[in-house]
Amino acid sequence: MPGSGKIEITVALGERSYPIRMGSGTLAELGTAMLPFKFEKRIALVSNPTVHALYGKTALDSLSGAGFDVALIKIPDGEEYKNLLWTEFIYGELLKARLERGSCLVALGGGVIGDITGFCAATYMRGIRFVQVPTTLLAQVDSSVGGKTGVNHALGKNMIGAFWQPSLVWIDTATLKTLPAREFAAGMAEVIKYGVIRDRAFFEYLGKEIGPIKNLSTEHLMHMVKRSCEIKAEVVSMDEREAGLRAILNYGHTVGHAIETLTGYKKYLHGEAVAIGMCLEALIAVEKGLLEAADYEKIRKLVASYDLPSELPEGLIGKKDLMNAMLLDKKVKGASIRAVLPVGIGDVRMEPISGFSFLT
Ligand SMILES: NC(=O)c1ccc[n+]([C@@H]2O[C@H](COP(=O)([O-])OP(=O)(O)OC[C@H]3O[C@@H](n4cnc5c(N)ncnc54)[C@H](O)[C@@H]3O)[C@@H](O)[C@H]2O)c1
Repeated sequence: MPGSGKIEITVALGERSYPIRMGSGTLAELGTAMLPFKFEKRIALVSNPTVHALYGKTALDSLSGAGFDVALIKIPDGEEYKNLLWTEFIYGELLKARLERGSCLVALGGGVIGDITGFCAATYMRGIRFVQVPTTLLAQVDSSVGGKTGVNHALGKNMIGAFWQPSLVWIDTATLKTLPAREFAAGMAEVIKYGVIRDRAFFEYLGKEIGPIKNLSTEHLMHMVKRSCEIKAEVVSMDEREAGLRAILNYGHTVGHAIETLTGYKKYLHGEAVAIGMCLEALIAVEKGLLEAADYEKIRKLVASYDLPSELPEGLIGKKDLMNAMLLDKKVKGASIRAVLPVGIGDVRMEPISGFSFLT
């Protein structure tokens, strides 16, 4: 039954705390769910044509049914539009629609829409509230939670941004049913990441339930998104601005980002590059004697079972280039490259990674 079995998780951040509410078939309840927040009547919904065609009407009907007066803002679909030019476009639409300090922005879409809308919310009139309505697996388990908002610059991805927490994250897992299989698999990389960094039992669950998860069983999707959000919420609550612990969420990302940069963000989706990154970083952990070879094999196998790449094709990227790209990554401090390495399934540690056989 739509809306049944709703789950709530709190991202505990003092006065910036907020709920993540999830269910299956709950998009039509978005408007009423937003009423307790006492936003002004005039709000804006930001989306793209792809998501709008699928879910725009349900979201708009729900918001206007709850008494909101909604300005619809659409930006083109794609990572290349997550930039300052389209931020400026959104600001213009917000001003034309006369959105005020007490208004709210609603981000309906994947991580691209969530990131740019969140950044507009952080900066429009020195900051207004916003609601995340993530519709990709990656956005539901990762980008909509934690308050990292931002856009790309010609010189680097996600280089312009702000920490700005949403007021509410409203997840309808039924929206995942229309997601292209490749996008679903890319989101699975982040889900697997949570198992490796924090929860061995969850990792094992993902290995046992491959069939129902790939068939998008409602119960499995709910459990998987819930457990991922719980782990992200827990980590973010302990370290909102990535002074320490939050860095564990970057497992697979040090190598992954380098792969994305070197392939011009074209060959791999973010999750696919992270999948390869997780496997290569696990391999480094084995070389360093931190991880059992059998655990590396389990990670590699799980990644592959969700139709994700687990290694770099021969000759695609030179080892030196990979090292150099990692050195240039914004998350690398000083001259030595450090990465989050698994020390078992369910536990990770930050370690230097230069000098390993397949990297040098
Ligand atoms: N803020 C953070 O903490 C954080 C974390 C990870 C990634 N990100 C960012 O997230 C972005 C990637 O997000 P993404 O993977 O969601 O990509 P995306 O937003 O580009 O969405 C992928 C594609 O799926 C389409 N789509 C979305 N929902 C759909 C649905 N339910 N059915 C059918 N199609 C649908 C989109 O229109 C798009 O074409 C990147 O810009 C990345 O930098 C941010």
